[in-house]
Amino acid sequence: MHFIVLTLYPEIFSSFLSCGLLNRAQEEGMIKIETVNFRKHGLGNHHSVDAPPYGGGAGMLLRPEPIVETLEECGRQYPEQNLHKVLISPQGVPYKQKKARAFSRIQGPVVLICGRFEGFDERIRHYIDEEISIGDYIMMGGEIGAMAIIESVSRLIPGVVGNEESLDQESFNRRLLEHDQYTRPFDYRGHTVPEVLLSGNHQKIKEWCQTNAIQKTRDKRQDLNSRSFPEEE
Ligand SMILES: C[S@@+](CC[C@H](N)C(=O)[O-])C[C@H]1O[C@@H](n2cnc3c(N)ncnc32)[C@H](O)[C@@H]1O
Repeated sequence: MHFIVLTLYPEIFSSFLSCGLLNRAQEEGMIKIETVNFRKHGLGNHHSVDAPPYGGGAGMLLRPEPIVETLEECGRQYPEQNLHKVLISPQGVPYKQKKARAFSRIQGPVVLICGRFEGFDERIRHYIDEEISIGDYIMMGGEIGAMAIIESVSRLIPGVVGNEESLDQESFNRRLLEHDQYTRPFDYRGHTVPEVLLSGNHQKIKEWCQTNAIQKTRDKRQDLNSRSFPEEE
């Protein structure tokens, strides 16, 4: 899996990329993540990347040239590969686990374009493949969105997460939240672990997990399963 992140603040990614599973996955060559500051293609002596909006309005917009020229440079760097260009924007399609799975199957580099200021000049949209939002709220920049995509996709790449069986049970994989989970101690201030989980009866445990996941999804996230629940299909 190969990500290229276009950002005005590559330094935001330094500690993010040098910790835990992401760090190991890069060291072991399972994923490759590059950051590119598109200010390198900014205009004039100050490498300017923004300008006020035509017609007036608050703040500054990202001009198209620095971003498009950086995309073109990435294309020249990987001439054999098809770049999949993703605009990170609150106006995009809401990001879901299904999209993470789709990204994890892409062969060439996935380019994540992070906005800043008041966002992008509209014409950037002629040069991208899709536009992704990470939720209905406005942040200062697209970097946290890019990180969310990188983490969620990377853990789907074989070998990145130690126990791949756990991926199957996880929330959203089956339009269900994951069932309740417990570890030690057995009794924490009077709150005990459901006995069935200690029974050693694998069939019973499996049934309990399924029933618990369905009930939990009903209680917490009706929207995940508005049409029907698995046992009703
Ligand atoms: C302040 S926002 C611009 C918002 C823009 N004026 C609007 O109303 O749509 C600056 C940048 O942060 C990023 N951003 C902010 N919120 C986001 C979200 N919910 N999902 C994805 N990206 C977001 C985008 O890259 C965006 O271009």
